[in-house]
Amino acid sequence: MLTEQQKALWEQLRHTLSRDQAIWFAGYVQGIVQPEGMAATATVTAQKKLRVFFATETGNSKMVAQQVAKQAKDHGWNASPQSVKKIKQAEELQSDEPIIFITATHGEGEPPETALAFFEMLQQSDVSLKGVKYAVLGLGDSSYPQYNQAARDLDAYMEKLGAERIYERGELDVDFASHYPQWIAGVLSALPSAQLASVLPVTIETAMPAGKGYSRLEPIVGRVREMINLNDRGSAKETYHIEIEHDEPLAYAPGDVAGIILPHFAEGVDHLTPRLYSIASSPLAHAGSIHLTVALAWHQDEDGEIGYGLCSRYLADLKVGDEVKFFIQRNSLFKLPEDERDIIMIGPGTGIAPFRSFVWERAERGASGRNWLFFGEQHQHCDFLYQAEWIDFVETGVLHKIDLAFSRDQEHKVYVQHCLKEKASELLKWVDGGAAIYVCGAKDPMSKDVEQTLLEIFATQKGGSEAAQEFLDQLHDDNRYVKDVY
Ligand SMILES: Cc1cc2nc3c(=O)[nH]c(=O)nc-3n(C[C@H](O)[C@H](O)[C@H](O)COP(=O)(O)OP(=O)(O)OC[C@H]3O[C@@H](n4cnc5c(N)ncnc54)[C@H](O)[C@@H]3O)c2cc1C
Ligand SMILES: Cc1cc2nc3c(=O)[nH]c(=O)nc-3n(C[C@H](O)[C@H](O)[C@H](O)COP(=O)(O)O)c2cc1C
Repeated sequence: MLTEQQKALWEQLRHTLSRDQAIWFAGYVQGIVQPEGMAATATVTAQKKLRVFFATETGNSKMVAQQVAKQAKDHGWNASPQSVKKIKQAEELQSDEPIIFITATHGEGEPPETALAFFEMLQQSDVSLKGVKYAVLGLGDSSYPQYNQAARDLDAYMEKLGAERIYERGELDVDFASHYPQWIAGVLSALPSAQLASVLPVTIETAMPAGKGYSRLEPIVGRVREMINLNDRGSAKETYHIEIEHDEPLAYAPGDVAGIILPHFAEGVDHLTPRLYSIASSPLAHAGSIHLTVALAWHQDEDGEIGYGLCSRYLADLKVGDEVKFFIQRNSLFKLPEDERDIIMIGPGTGIAPFRSFVWERAERGASGRNWLFFGEQHQHCDFLYQAEWIDFVETGVLHKIDLAFSRDQEHKVYVQHCLKEKASELLKWVDGGAAIYVCGAKDPMSKDVEQTLLEIFATQKGGSEAAQEFLDQLHDDNRYVKDVY
């Protein structure tokens, strides 16, 4: 399109432009080419609205959505990313503002938990979204059979309702950090007046570390340093504390998880999905190794024979000195708050793992916020995981409160949600004072029962179940109600 001379001039100019000058320049050019009768604008300010929605479980999609918004601003689009959870009815999508969705896939090809209601609503809707412009970016993991299924579903629902896809669906894998900038640049250039895409290089700082040790594509090899069955005689469980030492430097934060690469021992299976385990160690207190808390999973097959979970069996059988391939997976929503904030940790069973990391980390940092732990298992005498450490933390004043639910130590079953109910008034005081609530462990039924109980507790204070739900949603939006459940 340009002559050689124009090209040379452009190259000369391009490299001297600051970002603000480039934005001004784009607006200027836009003004020149606008139809007659429209005033030429010499500046592009962020005046057009773009809607950016994310559906996330561990924070990656939110982070990418924030980058989309940031980059869009430089192109004259105003966007503040929101969770799809905010969209209660499909009619809310009817608008001439273009929409960009970023969604992860979880479970077995399902949307993230907080987005389930939105997906269901959209699937069942018959409202017309004709004229609505949209694009979908999916974050997934190709080692799962239903790769990026949530993004595919969302794209199909929007299409079915008549919306117009303005840019092809992106499907990114575990190495998404090095690929999403390209998709963002593409989608922004597909927006009606985004001429700047070719002017401004897309410079996006990724919040995710890439490289060795941070995805299943580039695992590191560690060695087992310690292997302890945390359950005592008389227990129906086998839960292993496993310490894996590594020579290479690894950055992680409490709340992150480790992905374990399975060796090729299963006949005919050549590509097994790594299994994730919450990291139970603190980078400050346990430099040079990561700790896991692994429950041996078992089942009875049709013939009544006992079978075991693949990865937990593999881990349970490891011996000191054995090699293990693993990587760190960031969990950017499940993070410790500021040191001054109180935290309430609800983690029965292996749900205790990240809270061991939290409390060790807070002890090392001398964090002033108070720490309250709810733990549950079957029997106190044989299933109280990390008992000696918790007692120590209570004695040294690091752990301010601990409430225990041993379900089978009395006639009636007692679970963590019963403890929550019993301590309702104190819990409300902590929450009123700004405490953040963390839940980790079994998704079903534990996390659902806990949530129901929290709602009941809030309902007594807030004046009804609707107000309680609103309050919990607000806590969630403020990162003060965070779950890591599986
Ligand atoms: C974010 C996250 C964090 C996690 N953190 C932890 C943690 O800290 N500690 C922990 O222990 N786990 C944790 N998990 C769970 C863990 O990732 C594994 O899912 C778990 O260890 C089971 O994996 P497996 O390979 O042993 O079992 P799999 O082989 O995947 O089997 C899954 C289940 O199905 C059963 N099963 C297998 N075959 C059959 C069959 N033919 N019939 C009936 N049942 C069958 C198995 O017994 C097992 O219970 C976490 C999961 C996530 C997503
Ligand atoms: C328990 C679990 C299940 C997952 N299931 C799938 C899946 O079925 N398909 C897929 O493509 N990715 C799957 N993933 C990968 C996630 O989509 C991927 O890690 C993504 O980057 C997470 O984004 P988020 O942080 O926004 O939730 C799964 C991840 C986890 C932890």
